[in-house]
Amino acid sequence: MIIRPRRLRVTQSIRDMTSETRLSPSMLVYPVFIREGKNIIEDIPAMPGQKRYSPDTLPLILEKAANNKIGGVLFFGIPEKKDETGSQAWNDNGVIQNAIRISKKEFPDLTVIGDVCLCEYTSHGHCGLIKNGKIDNDSTLEILSRVAVSQSQAGADIVAPSDMMDGHTGAIRSALDENGMTDTLIMSYAVKYASSFYGPFREAAGSAPSFGDRKTYQMDPRNSREAVKEALLDILEGADIIIVKPGLSYLDVLKTVRESVHVPVASYSVSGEYSMIKAASEKGWLNEKNAALEAATSMARAGADIIITYYALELSEWLRL
Ligand code: PBG
Repeated sequence: MIIRPRRLRVTQSIRDMTSETRLSPSMLVYPVFIREGKNIIEDIPAMPGQKRYSPDTLPLILEKAANNKIGGVLFFGIPEKKDETGSQAWNDNGVIQNAIRISKKEFPDLTVIGDVCLCEYTSHGHCGLIKNGKIDNDSTLEILSRVAVSQSQAGADIVAPSDMMDGHTGAIRSALDENGMTDTLIMSYAVKYASSFYGPFREAAGSAPSFGDRKTYQMDPRNSREAVKEALLDILEGADIIIVKPGLSYLDVLKTVRESVHVPVASYSVSGEYSMIKAASEKGWLNEKNAALEAATSMARAGADIIITYYALELSEWLRL
């Protein structure tokens, strides 16, 4: 007798019925870049197909996200003026606050997640305040808390601190609660590596550091044990959801973290992952749809409950077919 695993594969319908991993639009989050100004829709050269919107043109793209019933949108704000402390990040009339208000007004059921970080807002491009040429962790916490409260008051359902300062989740949770924003969730970038795959994002957001790099606050790609430590600490500090970032190169970390915690885990398939698939498929070397679906499937298989991806809108279309 031959035992035949292949019998489970003989028709598409049986393969679908027996698959372990299923993608759904509701697990997808779409990152959007929003620039201060009016009437702007501009291309991002390093991320073909992705654009920067001003708050007034944003509904054009959000409509698709709402209609396709994806899980949510993640907003990155790009202010007109940057300064040492990133003060536009907590301006109640700042670019991201306005975008959040417009989104919640036009599409109240679409979950809005605000990126909480300073690198898009500081003149030096770092994610925290600089003192004596170094990132000052503790004084940055107070600023990040102000940013989170201001986004929450503008209507954000979830705030997502991506700065990688120690203690950020606890500081933000206390500030939100003290301001009565107890229902705002925190989706924390607990596990974020110092990755070269963020290159296209830094072009999109104009957030490349003007000196040094982010290796003192982002994680070392050689290490995975500290991922569990970072995740557990963030959960103790009040994180409702945690992010492991990037996606494809860190599936082992994602799996380990998924098995170590009891909160939903998101995998962030970053700008460089998007641009790699895009560039190869523009050259005819990859089938874009199949490659993007396979990448997302592998993150779900490794344990992602949520996938943050620049392919979210296309994936949600392909999954409906
Ligand atoms: C800001 C931030 C970055 C990304 C998300 N939030 C850039 C960075 O840390 O340099 C990268 C996302 C992507 O590459 O898609 N701290």
